[in-house]
Amino acid sequence: MIFIVTNKYDSKRGKDDGRLHTADIFFQGLDDAIMAAQNMITAAESMGLGVVPLGSIKNDPQKIIEVLNLPKMTFPVLGLQIGIPDQEPQLKPRLPLKFIAFDNDYPKEIKLSDLSDYDQEVTTYYDLRDANRRIDSFTNQIAGAKLDRHYTKRDEIMKVLHRQGLCTDEGID
Ligand SMILES: Cc1cc2nc3c(=O)[nH]c(=O)nc-3n(C[C@H](O)[C@H](O)[C@H](O)COP(=O)(O)O)c2cc1C
Repeated sequence: MIFIVTNKYDSKRGKDDGRLHTADIFFQGLDDAIMAAQNMITAAESMGLGVVPLGSIKNDPQKIIEVLNLPKMTFPVLGLQIGIPDQEPQLKPRLPLKFIAFDNDYPKEIKLSDLSDYDQEVTTYYDLRDANRRIDSFTNQIAGAKLDRHYTKRDEIMKVLHRQGLCTDEGID
């Protein structure tokens, strides 16, 4: 299952494609696609199925577009792998609410060290879980290799979006 943002216009009714190429409209399609994906996940899990969202669908978007023969004005945003689970993994510890839910303001003072208790929880989880045990932590993941400047195919996402006719507006300073 792949969710695709698609923007179509109706030339028969004399409509031009006006704003369809803007980032605004792309984000509207993205909102819908992500909500549809979450609904699919909820429905699948309610039937006892297991789901892995696949952000990796964007690892090489041009290739996916070619393989799936996707037309202009579409873009693959998320894959869903749905199947019959053969394991019952423990629930991964979630970030405490105070780090992810805020009222009316975004706290700018959160330091890596504030996450040390959660880090310890995640490290213990990785160490003791049934499958794919490893030595790792949350801060290692978010402040580790991801921050190094290195080229990946994912850096081509904007180029491919433009090639698809999406997000081509410059915006206003
Ligand atoms: C938006 C989103 C995208 C994801 N993309 C992938 C993916 O491409 N491949 C994958 O194996 N898991 C993907 N996942 C699943 C999580 O990364 C999953 O929790 C992860 O595999 C857990 O790994 P860990 O427990 O070893 O850290 C994604 C989850 C989300 C919410």
